[in-house]
Amino acid sequence: MIDAICEQAKKLPFVAPAFGTEVRAELSKSLLDVMPQGLEKFFYATSGTEANEAAIKIARQFTGKYKIISRYTSYHGSTAGSMSLTGDPRRYMIEPAGTIQGALHGPDAYCYQCPFGLNYPDCGIACADYIEHMIEHESNVAAVIVEPVVGSNGVIVPPDEYLPRLREITRKHGVLLICDEVMSGWGRTGEWFAVDNWKVKPDILSTAKGITGAYIPLSITATTREISDYYEDHYFALGHTYEAHPLTLAAGVAAIQEYKRLDLIKHAKKLGEYMGKQLRALKDKHASVGDVRGLGLFWGIELVRNRKTRAWFNTREDKLQGKPMMVDRVANDCMNNGVYFSTWLNYIVAAPPLIISEEEIDRGMAALDKSLTLADKEVESA
Ligand SMILES: Cc1ncc(COP(=O)(O)O)c(C=O)c1O
Repeated sequence: MIDAICEQAKKLPFVAPAFGTEVRAELSKSLLDVMPQGLEKFFYATSGTEANEAAIKIARQFTGKYKIISRYTSYHGSTAGSMSLTGDPRRYMIEPAGTIQGALHGPDAYCYQCPFGLNYPDCGIACADYIEHMIEHESNVAAVIVEPVVGSNGVIVPPDEYLPRLREITRKHGVLLICDEVMSGWGRTGEWFAVDNWKVKPDILSTAKGITGAYIPLSITATTREISDYYEDHYFALGHTYEAHPLTLAAGVAAIQEYKRLDLIKHAKKLGEYMGKQLRALKDKHASVGDVRGLGLFWGIELVRNRKTRAWFNTREDKLQGKPMMVDRVANDCMNNGVYFSTWLNYIVAAPPLIISEEEIDRGMAALDKSLTLADKEVESA
């Protein structure tokens, strides 16, 4: 990775983004091999946030409509459009002046805390049907945006029927489906992209992070030939100075080679099963663990003070007010033992580097096992 960046720096460190470059062609060609089939045109920027802003602009311009439906339990980025679509409390403080018009929020495919209080499979995937209800009653909907596997908000894996159903609904209503794979892409779920788990092809896929293993900032907004053809005779007002920056593209080419050389997608699937088994055992052992769920090397641990009611330790308001969160106490204790987990609200996310070994997973799980006793002590007695 580092050599590829250095070689590109010597060859062509920068050129204005209007120019075509060899490395741009090379990365685009490599992407055709790994992206869901049919996604074959790419816009390169430098963050997941920008990839989603581009997705919003493309969806609005292409459809001529302006509303975008996202879901409450989601994060899509930190600028006006992507933050407006973010459903979680990070959105609250920019409202109303900092939000864009037409950002709507629908229900989540979150079986453990179902917004309708239903149980899978008897629910009939009401969460997908409600999105159709929204599309029909709103009109003017350009797109639905989802994280196919929700990331920082607890790694929520949808039921198998959900994404195919959402694809069917959006297609039926001429609404674009945008899949935000900033976290879930690049082998994280044991497939190149999370949508591959359900063989769903979105109209737009946004991604970042893993495309360069985060060695250098690069993001991609991928779309179909049909949508990109629109821009053959319409102006594409989406430039950035650092769009398609050669150093970032060289890192992308090298990363794809490394994913293949080290067989990391298969490795993630295999080691993910290993880690999942251990996490399920931790759930059996610790009363504070309400749910564990995941795919590949992408797992969420949801802490609750009461397993029966599924009540959280902390509220969203606690987080915004900077109160100490139970998940942070647990993660802090893990960190004291040299193991880092990211946290948010009542979720602990276990998403290690894809090159992790079984021994390293054992070490991480042992630290979590020890630290979870802190939360167990505050579980409500039955
Ligand atoms: C699902 C998702 N979308 C978008 C973003 C924003 O990406 P970035 O931080 O690169 O702007 C993130 C960041 O974590 C994310 O997890």
